[in-house]
Amino acid sequence: MEKDLSNYRKAYIKKELRKSEVPENPMELFQKWFYEIEASNNIEEPNAMTISTLGLDGFPKNRVVLLKKFTWEGFIFYTNYLSEKGKAIALNPNVCISFFWHGAEQQIIIKGKAEKVAENLSDGYFESRPDGSKLGAWASNQSEVVSSRDTLDLSLKATEEKYKNIEIPRPDNWGGYLIKPKSIEFWQGRANRMHDRIRYELQENFEWKIERLAP
Ligand SMILES: Cc1cc2nc3c(=O)[nH]c(=O)nc-3n(C[C@H](O)[C@H](O)[C@H](O)COP(=O)(O)O)c2cc1C
Repeated sequence: MEKDLSNYRKAYIKKELRKSEVPENPMELFQKWFYEIEASNNIEEPNAMTISTLGLDGFPKNRVVLLKKFTWEGFIFYTNYLSEKGKAIALNPNVCISFFWHGAEQQIIIKGKAEKVAENLSDGYFESRPDGSKLGAWASNQSEVVSSRDTLDLSLKATEEKYKNIEIPRPDNWGGYLIKPKSIEFWQGRANRMHDRIRYELQENFEWKIERLAP
C-alpha cells in the first residue's frame, strides 16, 4: 500500500506571538489562549489533550484525555490509577501533555510532573459525573485485556444491578492527576514555516525563563 501526502500543504497565517507581549507566567498565556479558543467556537473539544508517559516497556505512549481543570498550579485530568498510564506515572511521574488547536494554528506542549490530586477533589468530580460514567468506571478495568464486547456489556449490567437505587461511590483506583508544569512551549503557526515558538522554563528560584525557539 502507498499513499503520497506530499501535496498536503497549508499556510499558517492567522496570528502571531511576540515575546515582548507575553505575560511573566505561562498559565496566564494558557488561560488567554484557552478563552480565545473557547470563544471562537470552532474546536469541538478544546480540552482534549494528548498525554505521553514513559511506559514500563521503555516506550513513550501518547493517548488523548480530557483536561478538567487548570489553575495556577497546573493541569488536572481524571483516569483509572491502575491503567497503563497510571502504572507508568507511578514509576515515572514525568509526563508531557500537548494541545493542537488547528482552528487557531496553535500548539501548546507542557512537560511536568504528575501527582494524584487530593481524594476529596476526585470525590467531588466523580460525584458530578452522570451515573452512566460512574458505572463505567466500576465496570471496566481500564487497559486490561477483555475477551469480548459481551464481557464488557455483562460487566456493566452486573454493575447496574449492584448499584440499583444506591449511591455509586468512587472506586479507590479512579481519580485525578495534577500535572505541575516545568516547561510550557507555545507554538503559533506563521507564514513560510517561520513559526513563533515561545518557551517558558521554571527556574530554581521559581521564576519563569522565557525564550524564543527557532521554528
Ligand atoms: C476525546 C477523548 C477523550 C478521552 N478522555 C479520557 C479521559 O479523560 N480519561 C481517560 O482515562 N481516558 C480518556 N480517553 C481514553 C484514552 O485515550 C485511553 O484510551 C485510556 O485512558 C486508556 O489509556 P492507557 O491504556 O494508555 O492508560 C479519551 C479518549 C479520547 C479519544
